[in-house]
Amino acid sequence: MDGIQNIKGCIFNMDGVIVDTAKYHYQAWRRLANQFGFDFTREQHEELKGLSRMASLETILEWGGIYMPEAEKMHWADVKNNWYIGLISNMKPGEVLPGVLNFLQQVRATGRITALSSASQNARSVLKTTNLESCFDVILDGNQVKKQKPDPSCFLMAALEMGLSPAECLVFEDAPPGVEAALRGGFTVIGVGKQEDLVKAHLVIKGFENLNFNTMVAHIVERAVS
Ligand code: G6P
Repeated sequence: MDGIQNIKGCIFNMDGVIVDTAKYHYQAWRRLANQFGFDFTREQHEELKGLSRMASLETILEWGGIYMPEAEKMHWADVKNNWYIGLISNMKPGEVLPGVLNFLQQVRATGRITALSSASQNARSVLKTTNLESCFDVILDGNQVKKQKPDPSCFLMAALEMGLSPAECLVFEDAPPGVEAALRGGFTVIGVGKQEDLVKAHLVIKGFENLNFNTMVAHIVERAVS
């Protein structure tokens, strides 16, 4: 965290940080579970945050006590993905989480670079339907990033493309595996969500509504010296 004053870029995770796509993942996964004859709650679905498509499917199958060979898993992961694509194709710019657009503008207005790093292979479609694509200087999605969080490569690759070192970037993350990934990569991490879920982050914010970039950085500096 040395040199937090020298922040030159911000890297944002997508699902749950700038858009609420979790509800669509939940609907699609639930439809699949129902097809197999069981159900799971929204609270259970929280455990899937930040997991890859296959890891999510494997966790859900475990909940339902279902075993299936790899080839069949691939098939059902595709089925779920097609349902999910159907749901996100109707997303609207109004579904961008409160304060996000204003915050992204502030970051750029202070001369800093913005990047999006998502494990989702559908990230580009979501950015397009919500009109967010032009808000990012660098975009990395699940087609480029293969290693699962908490591996830090998703954020390291973003920093590399931004031409910055991890120490010069802030990472915004809503899920514990993502916070861990950023810490392993040597980044300063802002948790987005509940303090109790994101204890390892350097600072936790509830969301971006009324958030001032400079005030937020001042808070991180304060915490680092106290
Ligand atoms: C993110 C989300 C996960 C999702 C994963 C893969 O990490 O938090 O819920 O499973 O991306 O997304 P995809 O759209 O490629 O299935």
